[in-house]
Amino acid sequence: MSWGLQNRISRMFPTGSGHTVMLAVDHGYFMGPTRRLENARNTIAPLAPYADALALTRGILRTSVPADCPTPIVLRVSGGATILQEDLSDETITTPMAEALRLNVSAVALSVFVGSPHEHQTLASLADLVSDGEEVGMPVMAITAVGKELEKRDARYLSLACRVSAELGAHLVKTYYCDGFEKVVEACPVPLVVAGGPKLENDRQALELAYSAISLGAKGIDMGRNIWQSDHPVAMLKALRAIVHEKASVDDALDVLNGEKNRRLARAAAT
Ligand code: 5RP
Repeated sequence: MSWGLQNRISRMFPTGSGHTVMLAVDHGYFMGPTRRLENARNTIAPLAPYADALALTRGILRTSVPADCPTPIVLRVSGGATILQEDLSDETITTPMAEALRLNVSAVALSVFVGSPHEHQTLASLADLVSDGEEVGMPVMAITAVGKELEKRDARYLSLACRVSAELGAHLVKTYYCDGFEKVVEACPVPLVVAGGPKLENDRQALELAYSAISLGAKGIDMGRNIWQSDHPVAMLKALRAIVHEKASVDDALDVLNGEKNRRLARAAAT
């Protein structure tokens, strides 16, 4: 692995814990104006200082993140389908490597749709992106998308998708939490980060998901909706940091969340 590629990866793992807390704000690329991400600038600004990386598209980066933002960027470079289509897997590379370099990002990310009608094209895009990335020192994160086929969120399917991604050269893989997650981790030779998926019933459930994933070997999280659709997004992100970086229990993380929430409510009441 080249020095540049290692350097970019290390930017996203900055605390020495060997783990990372990425904030996913790329949902608009196929979902349009998602709830509480309608105005991306307003959603991202208070959260960016507490994220180890921001995962987004070039459009949101250029319009909604100040160029002096020090948080490393994971640039989504795939797209081409929207939730209006039955099949979400018809994706291609939407942003060239030269643009990723111009934007000075720390990694590029694309979705792979294993088991879908466009499995081949998304896997071929991954392999090409890895080759392009390695020429210029750019890490590639494969996102094992499950599209609308949520029933595929099981250990056998996700192990297959993660392993294939690693075999094709992905430097990082993002996947979903599932029963038997340890099998997914064991079979994937590169670091795994977990997405949160749709907003869970309450904050505790999202903290439990992160706790279980990290305990079973994930190297971090790349979560979106369970953070910025929470009523207390900054408090939620800080609580997740405690789990990922400090090995906090779920109860300790809830204390972090409630402490931060109460401080913010008290500050708001005083102004
Ligand atoms: C969309 C994505 C999202 O970034 C990923 O699903 C993480 O966000 P969330 O925690 O809301 O699921 O890759 O395709």
